[in-house]
Amino acid sequence: MTAKIISGTEIAKQIREELKQEIAQLKAKHNLVPGLATVLVGENPASQSYVGAKEKTSIELGIYSERLDLPEKTSQDELMALVDRLNKDPKIHGILVQLPLPKHLVETEILYAINPKKDVDGFHPVNVGRLMIGEPDYLPCTPHGIQQLLVRSGVQIEGAEVVVVGRSNIVGKPIANMLLQKRPGANATVTICHTGTRDISFHTRRADILIVAAGRPKAVTADMVKEGVVVIDVGVNRVGKTAEGKAILVGDVDFEGIKEKASAITPVPGGVGPMTITMLMLNTVKAAKLAAGLA
Ligand code: GUN
Repeated sequence: MTAKIISGTEIAKQIREELKQEIAQLKAKHNLVPGLATVLVGENPASQSYVGAKEKTSIELGIYSERLDLPEKTSQDELMALVDRLNKDPKIHGILVQLPLPKHLVETEILYAINPKKDVDGFHPVNVGRLMIGEPDYLPCTPHGIQQLLVRSGVQIEGAEVVVVGRSNIVGKPIANMLLQKRPGANATVTICHTGTRDISFHTRRADILIVAAGRPKAVTADMVKEGVVVIDVGVNRVGKTAEGKAILVGDVDFEGIKEKASAITPVPGGVGPMTITMLMLNTVKAAKLAAGLA
């Protein structure tokens, strides 16, 4: 079997078209323009590239975008004051503080200071808790993107054996939580593997759907999966640079080996990445509607 390629680029494009129309309607009917603030502290090149992409996509869709680039040496108090100002700004419906923050800053204190209604990343404990009990305002962007890739590719999730490799707060834990909810596009049997798992292959070989967010290249190889598995590769590993100085990206799975066994697989780049940004836009639109009493 040679796997079908699940194109995040294509599916993201569809969702962005839908959002663009919704944003135009909100403006025309309600004079409402969703607003997103993106905050970047320091000069991490990967973070600069992500925030740049978020800003560019906002503008393309008609979202009001405020980009705040702060120096590496920004203090905790200065960043807290900025979050406070954005919490109070009625033009801003969503606040995104790009992670990781420089080491001297206390990440949790900053994330917890964001008004949960403006927490379009879905990282605030209120939103994490709401997700867990099945009443989310905002689904976290990467897990929501993964779910949409599966649903829009026609993958049967209900009743499936889903195995997640990785237990991060940003991907592993929330995607596991979302796919076990009793609702359409979920209702799966979910296993989470992590660095403490005794025999990862034992679990991955049982997977109908395998979601890999392990944070290292070739964490999953062809011998670890069954014929016909659907593989979602969340990894973004920078393994070098092209002659033109562009980063070379690879995922967390051995794509070349696994594509001969899987029924479908996401590429890196062009898989989960474009979906994450798109779901941030979707959350920003939702935040604006919630603020205006339209959701
Ligand atoms: N760093 C890596 N992924 C993310 C994300 O989804 N949101 C934020 N704010 N920072 C990140």
